[in-house]
Amino acid sequence: MALDDLVTDGVRADSVPNDLEAFWMPFTSNRSFKKRPRLVSRAKDMHYYTPEGRPILDGCAGLWCVNPGHNREPIVEAIRAGAAEMDFGPTFQYGHPSAFRLATKIADLAPGDLDHVFFCNSGSEAVDTALKIALAYQQTIGQGTRTRLIGRERGYHGVGFGGISVGGMVANRRTFGTMLAGVDHLRTTYDRENQAFSKGEPEYGAHFADELERIVGLHDASTIAAVIVEPMGGSTGVLPAPKGYLKRLREICDKYGILLIFDEVITGYGRLGYAFAAERYGVIPDMICFAKGITAGAVPMGGVIARKPIHDAFMKGPEHMVELFHGYTYSAHPLACAAGLATLDLYAKENTFTHALALEPFFADAVMSLKDKPGVLDIRTVGITGAVDLAPRAGSPGLRGYEALEKAFHEEGFMMRIAGDTLVITPPLIISKDQVGELVEKLGRVIEKTA
Ligand SMILES: Cc1ncc(COP(=O)(O)O)c(C=O)c1O
Repeated sequence: MALDDLVTDGVRADSVPNDLEAFWMPFTSNRSFKKRPRLVSRAKDMHYYTPEGRPILDGCAGLWCVNPGHNREPIVEAIRAGAAEMDFGPTFQYGHPSAFRLATKIADLAPGDLDHVFFCNSGSEAVDTALKIALAYQQTIGQGTRTRLIGRERGYHGVGFGGISVGGMVANRRTFGTMLAGVDHLRTTYDRENQAFSKGEPEYGAHFADELERIVGLHDASTIAAVIVEPMGGSTGVLPAPKGYLKRLREICDKYGILLIFDEVITGYGRLGYAFAAERYGVIPDMICFAKGITAGAVPMGGVIARKPIHDAFMKGPEHMVELFHGYTYSAHPLACAAGLATLDLYAKENTFTHALALEPFFADAVMSLKDKPGVLDIRTVGITGAVDLAPRAGSPGLRGYEALEKAFHEEGFMMRIAGDTLVITPPLIISKDQVGELVEKLGRVIEKTA
């Protein structure tokens, strides 16, 4: 029977699960969700649709990944054609054309001599890959004592053991044992007292980069391999780098021979109005981690872009030998490459990044207009991303945020992210001014309803 024959009252019978129990949902309050599920079964452009067909305005680009909007025809078609052409192609000792094509395009988009791409399947794998390349690189150039990795408080670098070790979100770390040894953390760049209600990069806080000097003073530079930071802390509630902070970090890394890694899993592919935040800030890191926006979320893909000298340092020894003992079965999966190529073409054709940059002031003003809503403690915006910190309910941190999430979906028909009591909107970059207005109005009502 054709699926469409199963439609009754506009609801496709196969789109409503009859048992929610077996799926242990990631980063989800499973019990609350299963009491009152937030299900979506279809998507197009700026909207999801519930199984009953109710439109849900996408205020979070799926999960910070659907930058060009949902189910865009060129991407759907490329995946369809790719699947028909070749299901899987190994990239250990063999290759397929679209992997090389995509790597070249990514390298062309990246600034400076960031021109070699190592593929994996997620942001978490991208982070672990970059950390491993950093350690192996230091050993390759005769700096084998450099084994220490430096992250930052409130950083999010995915959920692998490398990522949670350098990450700085307490809940993601405290139940998982000792993690990697030899890791230290910079302090967070967030200081509400001096930065509240900043649009874009806060004026205050470049000096937080000097913390790296303190860490070097404690451990000695000869023990430190790399520093990893997000140019804008995303998952912790949108923390843009203070003006000048990343430049200063670069200078200190250069002074001590420490590699600098930007985790651009969120900021890559237009979120801050550029292909990479590195460009926005005029700072070239030694490696960039990417994922999400590379395929618009349509097929999982992640990767690391490395500067030429890092890649080249490995290209020595007998030519028949593997140079880097690392990789994933699905590195550069043909379907992901097809989706990636089509996504990059779409960004170029529609000038998606320029559109985002041009929209940023309007978006920032709109989100900032929520300043006087009840219980708003701070608002931050950068690129097409905004966060509103709400005063928590006494004794129940996160409860107001969760109630806001529920009301947004069930009563206002929109999706957002929450980080505790911080509400985050980060919509697809194709959002129009009218839709920004609609999203912010809905968000305002949710803040009032949960006051
Ligand atoms: C900055 C950053 N790094 C890494 C990750 C992990 O990506 P993934 O969930 O694809 O493993 C994320 C996910 O949100 C992220 O925001």
